[in-house]
Amino acid sequence: MNTDDSTTGHGFSTLGIHGGAVRGAPGDSVVPPLVQSATFLGGGPDDRLMYSRYGNNPLQELVGRKIAALEGCEAGLVLGSGMGAISSVLLAFLEQGDHIVASRHLYGATLELLEVELPRRGVTTTFVEPTDVASWREAITDRTRILYLEAPTNPTLRIVDPRPAAEAAASAGVGRDIRVVMDATFATPVNLRPASLGVDLVVHSATKYLGGHSDIIAGAVAGSEADIAAVTTMMKRYGAAADPHMVWLLDRGLRTLEVRMRRHNENALALARFLESHPAVEQVLHPGLESHPDHALARELFPHGTGGMVSFMVRGGGEAADLVMSRLQLVQAAPSLGGVESLVSQPRYTSHRAMTAEGRGALGIPDGFLRVSAGIEDVGDLVGDVREALA
Ligand SMILES: Cc1ncc(COP(=O)(O)O)c(C=O)c1O
Repeated sequence: MNTDDSTTGHGFSTLGIHGGAVRGAPGDSVVPPLVQSATFLGGGPDDRLMYSRYGNNPLQELVGRKIAALEGCEAGLVLGSGMGAISSVLLAFLEQGDHIVASRHLYGATLELLEVELPRRGVTTTFVEPTDVASWREAITDRTRILYLEAPTNPTLRIVDPRPAAEAAASAGVGRDIRVVMDATFATPVNLRPASLGVDLVVHSATKYLGGHSDIIAGAVAGSEADIAAVTTMMKRYGAAADPHMVWLLDRGLRTLEVRMRRHNENALALARFLESHPAVEQVLHPGLESHPDHALARELFPHGTGGMVSFMVRGGGEAADLVMSRLQLVQAAPSLGGVESLVSQPRYTSHRAMTAEGRGALGIPDGFLRVSAGIEDVGDLVGDVREALA
């Protein structure tokens, strides 16, 4: 099997289709075959053991290389879920007594991992305000092994610049072995390539934009060969591997990632501009809007587009938000994001359900807050549906 990647230097659309590709021979299928097999023949002393939980069936390896090509990294890995990817990365580089510095704006289950699970294993975390550049450096201790961040953040869509974290890790000194890990689920490699900004490991809930059709649960990680090998070992031991059929669907999603992202970016910005002009709307959060607190940074870091998510607050609080949600016809109420169809949710019922209203308010998520994942429908239909619901 020829695994030479002839796509180096190509654009995102080309990489999404051909990245990490195996050059075919006459008679091969154009689409990589789905080999729905847990195991593969071989058992002699010199045979390489292939088993889908090891992440080494041919399609898992191909999509791993594609993820690496898209992220501009040496290696990539597909896992069974975004949380499988995140936990495998953390397990790979942390020992009892180690320390993490993390942005305080993180996905709920990641927060639980850091606040509940890792302390049970002797790993502690200091949370910092990630936009405060000095805070990363100040929080690093002798036992810090990971600096962890996410951008854009959920659901307030703050842009967190990974460069200060990368500089803090570098300035901690040679041999300190501190890795910067970034969850770039909301960004996608089309809008941001964190590795080009000093991030060591990029993680994704590939359930979202990478898969793109709300029909798989998947995770992905990209980084150096050595780091991905370490993460793969954790995936094998703790069992976060990806099922072959899911990987095949993920590969199909990646083929259209660039064109989908272009439309997600356009639709979200158009929806955000419409909402900003609407009298029933108190505030709109989208990094592409001039009114967003991180707009200048978004323009610098996200030159191709500022993402498919839009958050907004309706006048009238929680009751008004419930009413708007119930009146939407095209935009469906559901958690998750990044699929071709538009979805809406209220964080108070989903990601931030466990918090009090005061706690959410302190994070900038008051009752009345709605989060929309703008799909790739015709923009007039999408905006029209929201206009009707707000009328
Ligand atoms: C930013 C972010 N990271 C990680 C996850 C977890 O991904 P998964 O549900 O694929 O495990 C999610 C899920 O919503 C997410 O939004």
